[in-house]
Amino acid sequence: MDIIDLRSDTVTKPTPAMMQAIMSAEVGDDVYKEDPSVNALEQYVADLFGMDEALYFPTGSMANQAAIKLHTQPGEQLICDKWAHVYNYEGGGVSFNSGVSCRLIDGHRGMITAAQVEASINLPDFYHSPLTSLVCLENTTNKGGGACYDFAEILKIKAVCDAHQLGLHLDGARLMNALVEKNETPKEYGKVFDTISICLSKGLGAPMGTVLVGNKDIMKNAMRVRKVLGGGMRQVGFMAAAGLFALQHQATQLKEDHKKAKELAEVLSSCSYVSAVEPTETNIIIFYLEKGISEIQFITDLEQKGIRISAMGEGKLRIVTHHDYTTKKHDFFLNFLSTYLA
Ligand SMILES: Cc1ncc(COP(=O)(O)O)c(C=O)c1O
Repeated sequence: MDIIDLRSDTVTKPTPAMMQAIMSAEVGDDVYKEDPSVNALEQYVADLFGMDEALYFPTGSMANQAAIKLHTQPGEQLICDKWAHVYNYEGGGVSFNSGVSCRLIDGHRGMITAAQVEASINLPDFYHSPLTSLVCLENTTNKGGGACYDFAEILKIKAVCDAHQLGLHLDGARLMNALVEKNETPKEYGKVFDTISICLSKGLGAPMGTVLVGNKDIMKNAMRVRKVLGGGMRQVGFMAAAGLFALQHQATQLKEDHKKAKELAEVLSSCSYVSAVEPTETNIIIFYLEKGISEIQFITDLEQKGIRISAMGEGKLRIVTHHDYTTKKHDFFLNFLSTYLA
């Protein structure tokens, strides 16, 4: 049976063309900065965003954690949405690695506003409270169902950060999805954020890797922090070559993932057993079943047809489209959804 795995966009496998890029990569010891393929990827991403420096990390979590460490001192506080990946899904790394607390904002679909940020800043002279030093945004949002920020709101948040001397980090695990969907450019983002993490192993389809990009002043200790976190790698250019290939050849196809996601959302909205579908802007669909329809039974019935999706708790079900989700699989799944319980 052909498995249709829609639990995440991290399940993709390298295409033959990507394998070719991996096999022909020139490599060296990256801890000595002697891996030409890693160096080429870092330079490419720095240029793409118009920022000074980029550094290759094994994972998105490590890149975010390093960014938080670079921006903060122990005892300080960062501001983020209550659903933020940095707060919920990085193992408590914010407190473990940086000794920092999180001021959580009750945002909308994982996104926060400039007014909410402004209202959450602790007065710097009030020494009873932790000093606010960083704002972390996520674009697109994961738990928020692939929602994309309005760039105008990001600019307002940046103005608040500047007025209060706060750093601004973007968890851009799926930033390429937002850029493709909203016709925005990496350079616009590079001008606003102090640091941005871009995952190569999500919708872009590389086996691993995240690049952290930022300006010189903030990035000067990045190599040291990556080393401390255990992220210094050796001949990792094979994987960097896959990442560069993904950025250069697999970013435009994200639009196709979004189209399929919107088609799935549309069919789900018309199914009697579905109570609600959240707005679907990119490649993540979040939906809820009607009361009386068993989530476990639904997932089991899907599994029996070789289809995998995720249950996220609180009745949320999540589907994520990606590079390996072919049109044939899509047609099969659409047909399953529209005939289930019919
Ligand atoms: C929004 C977001 N940020 C960061 C990450 C972390 O990436 P990794 O799994 O490579 O640590 C993920 C992973 O799914 C994510 O969805």
